[in-house]
Amino acid sequence: MGKKVTFEILRYDPDKDKSAFYQKYEVEIRRPGMLILEALNQIKWELDHTLTFRRSCREGVCGSDGLNVNGVNMLACMTKIEDISTSKIVLQPLPGMPVMRDLVVDVEDFFEKFITVKPYLIRSTPTGDKEIYQSEEDRKKLDGLYECILCGCCSSSCPSYWTDKQYLGPNAFLRAWRYISDTRDEGTDERLKILNDKHGVWRCHTIYNCVKACPKELNPTKAIVEIRKMLLDKQF
Ligand code: SF4
Ligand code: F3S
Repeated sequence: MGKKVTFEILRYDPDKDKSAFYQKYEVEIRRPGMLILEALNQIKWELDHTLTFRRSCREGVCGSDGLNVNGVNMLACMTKIEDISTSKIVLQPLPGMPVMRDLVVDVEDFFEKFITVKPYLIRSTPTGDKEIYQSEEDRKKLDGLYECILCGCCSSSCPSYWTDKQYLGPNAFLRAWRYISDTRDEGTDERLKILNDKHGVWRCHTIYNCVKACPKELNPTKAIVEIRKMLLDKQF
């Protein structure tokens, strides 16, 4: 029998609960390096099958199990229980997003904002049948930008995102900068028009929560600064 860790999880079922409440579970640590996701599975499969959460790949690729652990957003499948330095672990759904049930949030608005910045290559110059080559150097410009897994941990950690419902948020900015930085893309000006808005990059107050929350160690704040510099240089 391994040692036990107390998990307190914010529960809410809109079909029967008037308001959210915390529920305690004692989880057995069964191996060194056990993950938060394994604790959630243990609770669901052995203690309480009604607990609801999202998960899929189990290896930090699908981005579906973002949640708030002791006040900080992270991925359940990338976080070892032994790395959380308290005896009690409090789990809550990602803040700033509507709760559908327990740890499951509605990500529709998050994805709509992602789509708003046109997250795809835009070309007006005909390419014919030829592939558009990039130099090794140009390809390297996308490192630190393309790896986003759309987990939502960044936007959900941002106070501007919580308070301004139209704010596009750090994820959308990082994604926009990924395409603006792509030498094959010709959609910079149409993206800048969208970003140059009071709900766009100017609403960021450089709080940096987004950088701290990103499980892929990406830097949305740097993308925001680069977009602002480009807007000023181009006198948008
Ligand atoms: Fe998640 Fe990082 Fe992408 Fe934000 S930038 S959605 S935190 S992977
Ligand atoms: Fe928010 Fe990140 Fe800016 S936390 S305010 S988008 S630096």
